[in-house]
Amino acid sequence: KVSPSAAPQRLSFSRLTQDDLAFFKKVLPGRTVTDPDLLESSNVDWLKSVKGSSEVLLRPETTEEVSQILSYCYSRNLAITPQGGNTGLVGGSVPVYDEIILSTAQMNKILGFDSVSGILSCQAGCVLENLSLYLEERDFIMPLDLGSKGSCQIGGNIATNAGGLRLLRYGSLRGTVLGLEVVLADGRVLDCLNKLRKDNTGYDLKQLFIGSEGTLGVITAVSILCPPKPKSVNVVFLGCESFQKLLQTFQLCKGMLGEILSAFEFLDSEYCPFYIVIETSGSDSTHDEEKLHNFLEKAMTSSLVADGTVATEDAKMKTLWSMRERVTEALTHEGFTYKYDISLPVEQIYQLVTDMRSHLGTQAKSVVGYGHVGDGNVHLNVTSPAKDPALLASIEPFVYEWTAQRQGSISAEHGLGLKKRNCIYYSKGRPAVALMGDIKAMLDPKGILNPYKTLPDDVR
Ligand code: FAD
Ligand code: MLT
Ligand code: ZN
Repeated sequence: KVSPSAAPQRLSFSRLTQDDLAFFKKVLPGRTVTDPDLLESSNVDWLKSVKGSSEVLLRPETTEEVSQILSYCYSRNLAITPQGGNTGLVGGSVPVYDEIILSTAQMNKILGFDSVSGILSCQAGCVLENLSLYLEERDFIMPLDLGSKGSCQIGGNIATNAGGLRLLRYGSLRGTVLGLEVVLADGRVLDCLNKLRKDNTGYDLKQLFIGSEGTLGVITAVSILCPPKPKSVNVVFLGCESFQKLLQTFQLCKGMLGEILSAFEFLDSEYCPFYIVIETSGSDSTHDEEKLHNFLEKAMTSSLVADGTVATEDAKMKTLWSMRERVTEALTHEGFTYKYDISLPVEQIYQLVTDMRSHLGTQAKSVVGYGHVGDGNVHLNVTSPAKDPALLASIEPFVYEWTAQRQGSISAEHGLGLKKRNCIYYSKGRPAVALMGDIKAMLDPKGILNPYKTLPDDVR
């Protein structure tokens, strides 16, 4: 049996030569980075948990340049890791060995925006927050929002099928992404950059690349459906004594806030058992505030929530949101974090945290739970002062077996990357994984695109 965390063997890709570098410098003058100091941050992931040893970082600006790079790498059998903002949490965005890093950071142009349909087209390297600011000036918003918005890029978001804080309201990228342009492993450009709401002409090929973590192609451009900016937004931060009450609050909230509910998030804490962040987004502030007031009154009088605060001004709303969004960063100060991203029927999501706490006893520094209640997605985080193999052996496979017994997903929104590739069988059957291997072999027969990621070691 393969150990989930075992390092993969280096596959027999070619090694980078001076001739290769000369080719890249010709195609990307001034954008072929070999300085070890500059390479350092691209070789290490955001969590500082995995590290590669790539000797070159390529920064193309156009699809044509990406195509030239891939066609060359394909002919030379050189492996490549596509990289966006490098905020991924499963070790997918950095090389494992000496794979060439292909960064989309310079592919940051907006290609067009239609203010009637709300359809935005842009290059893959646009930073999510920059897209949000661009749209807000035009009275629209992005259909997704993540705590990593200041660094993550739309191409990376699509490659991971990121969920985030607005999925409850606007759905997944599988619905909002209307078109993609992708460069395949051999350099062919696949133009599926539709700007249509409806298109049933054959198989929906773009879906293959959404959530494929750079293993099937490099996403170079995107068209995405963006909702109008809500005219009235409120954020509420509430304390809650038990997870049972939190679930009851969620039910009450769905019933009473209905169409204006846009987020329902939670975090546990040492100060109060649970905090809830609720956001409403609507078009009529009087109507929305009345609904919110009625909901809060009912939640308080039924003793579902203990205390809370409401914000309608931008600055206060940002402060309340940041208490939820900053948990990831805050945990990094505890030392090392073992992160799990599980989806389950919503009633069961917190049981995992409770069971893990009793299972680990004093072995862990802390066992923390937070996440997207509205999507049935909990983030279980176990911290320790430093990497601790004994602790890891107590967490895994316990966490995966626990999840599989309840037919949950061992990766709700972060992907499998390097860290979880061998755990895929806890959530997917062998025939499904074998078919994924066939698709990979068809689109990338030499396996040069993000090797050692997503698919397990026995399917390559
Ligand atoms: P990277 O990390 O650079 O890459 C991620 C994967 O996509 C890699 O496998 C990479 O090879 C591939 N890739 C990147 N760009 C391309 C491309 N153009 N073509 C093909 N493949 C590509 N995730 C959530 O789902 N929800 C959250 O709420 C959330 N919050 C976060 C908060 C914080 C503070 C942090 C640090 C991370 C969070 N994440 C969250 C995880 C992460 O931000 C997302 O996975 C994000 O979508 C990654 O985007 P990126 O541009 O940083 O991609
Ligand atoms: C979140 O919801 O905060 C993100 O997915 C990041 C994390 O899991 O820490
Ligand atoms: Zn999340």
